[in-house]
Amino acid sequence: MEDAPLKNIAVFASGRGSNFSAIIRAVKKGKIKANLSLLISDNPKAGAIARAKRAGVKMALVKREDFSSKSDFEKRIIQHLQDNKIELVILAGFMRVLGPDLIQTFNQRILNIHPAILPSFKGAQGIKDAFDYGVKVTGVTIHFVDAEMDHGPIVLQAQVLVEENDTLESLEKKIHKIEHKLYPQAIRLFLEGKLRVEGRKVKITP
Ligand code: GRF
Repeated sequence: MEDAPLKNIAVFASGRGSNFSAIIRAVKKGKIKANLSLLISDNPKAGAIARAKRAGVKMALVKREDFSSKSDFEKRIIQHLQDNKIELVILAGFMRVLGPDLIQTFNQRILNIHPAILPSFKGAQGIKDAFDYGVKVTGVTIHFVDAEMDHGPIVLQAQVLVEENDTLESLEKKIHKIEHKLYPQAIRLFLEGKLRVEGRKVKITP
């Protein structure tokens, strides 16, 4: 029997892009069976753009300030996604809350990674906020994206212990290390058709 054709996936990143690189590596190693077809960035200075160039991944820069409304900005992004027949959108440090245009067009086909155990420590500073709060356990969450920030149904979570001698920097390193393993796992589950969303719950088929 012939294998099913590989699905096309896109990563959205505004910054450094270490999760993007982890996804590139997982695709290269065959741990994620998909075409990594596109990087979308809204920031010309994003480190992710240089990573895309090095890895030969197509890149589209779509800057919010070039559009008079959020809806027009998202419509341009959707055009890129449709032109490239994208079936899964992977947010990896994309520093914008998505609006209804993108969310409805890619309903239950957008994943996000958050560097804390949701619903605790939502927002742009999840690692620092958890560290400053003095938690003993924090971690990483992968979730489907809905209209609210850091809110949609949770796919996977992994914990990271905060030890006595941890600094913010050492905790960041531990969190990123876990992120780079957990995101490829979640993407793989999605692509294998093993995730089913039931209300707030995500059922994972063994
Ligand atoms: C990660 O910590 C991710 O959880 C958060 O933004 C950060 C992006 O890091 N959403 P990088 O750009 O992938 O290195």
